[in-house]
Amino acid sequence: FFDEQGFIDEAIAMIQESIPAPGKAIIACSGGVDSMVTATLASKAIGDRLLAIYVDSGLMRKGETDEVEAMMKNMGINYKVAHAADEYFDALKGVEDPEGKRKVIGEKFIRVFERHAREFGATYLLQGTIAPDWIESGDGVRDTIKSHHNVGGLPKDMNMTLVEPLRDLYKDEVRQVARKLGVEASERQPFPGPALAIRCLGEVTPEKVEIVREACFIVEDEIMKAVGNGEAVRPWQYFAVLLPSKSVGVQGDRRAYGYTVAIRAVDSIDGMTATFSKLPLEVLNRISVRITDTMKSQVNRVVYDITSKPPATIEWE
Ligand code: XMP
Repeated sequence: FFDEQGFIDEAIAMIQESIPAPGKAIIACSGGVDSMVTATLASKAIGDRLLAIYVDSGLMRKGETDEVEAMMKNMGINYKVAHAADEYFDALKGVEDPEGKRKVIGEKFIRVFERHAREFGATYLLQGTIAPDWIESGDGVRDTIKSHHNVGGLPKDMNMTLVEPLRDLYKDEVRQVARKLGVEASERQPFPGPALAIRCLGEVTPEKVEIVREACFIVEDEIMKAVGNGEAVRPWQYFAVLLPSKSVGVQGDRRAYGYTVAIRAVDSIDGMTATFSKLPLEVLNRISVRITDTMKSQVNRVVYDITSKPPATIEWE
């Protein structure tokens, strides 16, 4: 039995003790449940001595920046949105290698975050680390396959005192605390730290991110509609990938040359292994038609990824 209210009271007391006045703390808020719960607890504990920073990298899902901002506002958190899309796209110019992209994005994130931490005068760093984050990081399995850059992956040399109120919790407990606090972030599907950049194969440009953002939105929207009317079972994760090459199609009576979008939907427990979801063909058809209708001049082909993990990974990069 997990006592949410007991945990909340203890966590608030722990944060107050760890960050005595007039100390200031900063947290990177991605909108994910871990960081939102941590920010909410810290805000209750130390009020405006906390600054939650949401970095708008230009790589987030459709509507995500507005949603996260609304959540932070709703919870009464002192927050700031760091608009950094241009910086990210500049840094990503010419970078094609998946690990190269992760590196650029990780470094950019740290630089933007550091800048704001300094401006605010924070000497404490709050993080939404949960138990599996530090238990799993010992085995290094995930990191040897792909370096997972999270907003949590900040360097030790930032010279700030680390405060991690969720360290002993597991995901389902964090979700329980979220519900108790009224944090809405709790039922979202997993989303990678490098965001849409790794769903846009090859070089990342604003134009390509726009395509994959819309395609991801359509995949999510159609699948959730199908789940809502009992037509499909909700996959563990579902999204779109934009392939870097073009193929031939027809538009009206003219030959067209456009991008291919791949749909990825998988069933999994923890992301370590996965099988592709057996989505009804009717649902896949609706996704395909809607993507090619919405982005007529850019996308002329949609394919469904029918590989499991292993041998594939869930993301394509
Ligand atoms: P893969 O593609 O490795 O993904 O099978 C397993 C799970 O991890 C997510 N993923 C990431 N998450 N930073 C993250 O925070 C990353 O760099 C990253 N790469 C993959 C992926 O979305 C899936 O849920």
